[in-house]
Amino acid sequence: MSGYADVLVGLQYGDEGKAKVIDILAPEYDIVGRFNGGANAGHTVATERGTAKLMQVPSAAFHEQKTLYIGSGCAVNVVKLAAEIAQLRELGVSMEGRLFISSRAALIQPHHLEVDRQEGRQIGTTGNGIGPCYADRAMRMRAGLRVGLQLKDLASDVGAVYSTIDGNARRLGNAALDSSELAASLEELDVAWQQVKSLVIDDPLFLTKKVRAGARVLFEGAQSVLLDVGYGDQPYVTASHTDPSFAYVGGDLNCRFHRKTIGVVKAIVSRVGMGSFPSELGGEKSADYCAAAAELRRGAEYEAGKYLPFELLKTGDGFELGVALRMLTGEYGTGTGRPRRIGLIDIPQLRQTIERFGVDEIFVNKVDCLRLFGETPAGKIPVVVKYLGTDQVPVLEELAVFDDAALRASTPASIADPVLAFVRLLQASLGCEVRALGTGPMRSQLIYFQREK
Ligand code: IMP
Repeated sequence: MSGYADVLVGLQYGDEGKAKVIDILAPEYDIVGRFNGGANAGHTVATERGTAKLMQVPSAAFHEQKTLYIGSGCAVNVVKLAAEIAQLRELGVSMEGRLFISSRAALIQPHHLEVDRQEGRQIGTTGNGIGPCYADRAMRMRAGLRVGLQLKDLASDVGAVYSTIDGNARRLGNAALDSSELAASLEELDVAWQQVKSLVIDDPLFLTKKVRAGARVLFEGAQSVLLDVGYGDQPYVTASHTDPSFAYVGGDLNCRFHRKTIGVVKAIVSRVGMGSFPSELGGEKSADYCAAAAELRRGAEYEAGKYLPFELLKTGDGFELGVALRMLTGEYGTGTGRPRRIGLIDIPQLRQTIERFGVDEIFVNKVDCLRLFGETPAGKIPVVVKYLGTDQVPVLEELAVFDDAALRASTPASIADPVLAFVRLLQASLGCEVRALGTGPMRSQLIYFQREK
């Protein structure tokens, strides 16, 4: 009997804790695949063997029986991938014979990184060259190389391409590398390529054959649906399609095998980079502050030296509440260390997202963090339930807070009333099942409502 594929995506602005959910769900699948993005996605996986910071290797890396796949929709940074693989090897986890990379994936080249570092700042990109790489692919010039077309001598091909575009000031502008920088980049690329090239496969039916033979695939979305290059609020988006339907384009499988779409939501929302964020605490002041902090490279350490978060919780000021929640819930970029903008859970936005992308069930992470609202003057959990008028003024519903004990439940029957009230509000207003609540960073800190049928 044929297998199937499920797609898991974040439903807000990224960093919803998808990696943790995949770690929990991995036993239900045979293959975990990536279909979009590249080293702009960052997740920390903590295990008994140690902690790995992964960007491109799918999140089920530590489930050693699972096959991992990086599809043609990804933009692969070979140098960073080799470093991730080395990090995993040090922790005793091998990728040989398990990780497969589509030869059609786009290749991140030195000029993509340079152009993004120069120009991406205007919208707050992660600086990983993602936009320029996909742009080169869409331009269909030789500058847009694929991972698998250079199975022999990647570095010299990249060098040859670079010299053609370097002659063209219009394309590189201030981002041109001098010859010694270029030579160092190419050498680094060459060393990394020797580590990675055996993982590249040139078989467009790789996943199809496996699924036909019964494999169950979980596609892991990078970034989140609101950052989709088409759907999101241009230009403050990533450069790939994050829409779950794109899993069947960038993941190299036909959509006939789709079974369901799983969404991951965070109970307190965050966003890095610029762009609209209607439920942001402190509004424009928070957006400006976080943009300036990113520019000045001020992150967790700076804020810890400047603010007393439990004092800020008490002031009743939106901006200060946002700073406090960021500090107390660790909301700083995994790759960049940037302070993330913080906002309230936004029901109207989630409802629209779930409807638009056909989400069947959700996991809600960081529910434990809601208890911090108990320290605020109102002492209640505010949830945005609608927006009013042309100014789109948020209307809040306030829910009773819950304490740690309420979150220690392990079965739905033992869940305390205030937690249930939160879940009921989500189920009633979102029109989709809440499958589980995340109540802490550990795999065990999860309350299931619905077991896999
Ligand atoms: P890029 O993907 O590096 O081009 O950045 C474009 C936008 O997407 C910026 O606002 C980034 O902060 C955001 N972004 C990219 N990757 C992630 C992620 O993994 N989590 C959250 N935001 C991201």
